Amino acid sequence: MTAALFLFIDLSVLVVSISLAAAYVEELDDRFNEMRRSEPWLVEFYAPWCEYCKTFEPIWYDVAAELKSQGSHINVGKLDTTVYTDAVTELKIRGYPSIIFIKGDKYFHYNGQKTKDAILEFTYRVSGPSVRALTSVQLFQHVLSRHQLFFVYVGGRSPLKGQFYKVASEFLIHNYFFSATVDVLPQAVTLQDVPSVVVFKDGAYDIYNEVRDGNLSSWVDRERFPRYFLMDSFSLYQMGERTKLVAVAVVDEKNPSAESSR
Ligand SMILES: *[C@@H]1O[C@H](CO)[C@@H](O)[C@H](O)[C@H]1NC(C)=O
Repeated sequence: MTAALFLFIDLSVLVVSISLAAAYVEELDDRFNEMRRSEPWLVEFYAPWCEYCKTFEPIWYDVAAELKSQGSHINVGKLDTTVYTDAVTELKIRGYPSIIFIKGDKYFHYNGQKTKDAILEFTYRVSGPSVRALTSVQLFQHVLSRHQLFFVYVGGRSPLKGQFYKVASEFLIHNYFFSATVDVLPQAVTLQDVPSVVVFKDGAYDIYNEVRDGNLSSWVDRERFPRYFLMDSFSLYQMGERTKLVAVAVVDEKNPSAESSR
């Protein structure tokens, strides 16, 4: 009797928490075209026949609940693309589920791993300004400790700054971009010239040199991958499009310390 009662209570708690999380995800319809004008949206575009979309659903509810609990102004929704087909052409949707951050006429496709943390990280990145100012040594250290790879413009007004902002909005979907003055840089960093653009990756840094590296956009496109990282099929595909040699170590993810025979 007691056991049965406990079971009943447990189940009801479970049902309540699932439906609460689901409540933060709005089921969108064709009014979405108007709604997106005024507020930023993170939307999952799905199809009812897509099995993986169903598996993904709890993660999507978690993303929404997390943004809600942080008091974020970003709305989370999902839209059935088989009913509202306009979205597919307009937003260039090629697979399901497609996760897109939409702010007015701007939209950013998410291409990373479908985990709560990775999706949230992407959302913070693309919902903020494309270049963020690092105004103190502490802030710079904080960014260094948090990000494996990021680009920094160092200096005041210049044509290079204009190029940097343009490239930042192009690559914001993949990387973080900052601006800073010389006095907030770590002591280990020495610049020959100011302004400069610097990439920090894996504890080292490299300075953009127009003569050697070509235009800023193509340099960023080459430098934007960490030296070592866990690869998935998407990043492998992307790197394959670059003129870069890639050494791949195949490891057993569940037992990374074991020597791989491959
Ligand atoms: C930068 O260089 C690349 C390759 O060299 C070229 O394809 C691209 O059009 C250039 N972009 C700009 C903005 O000049």
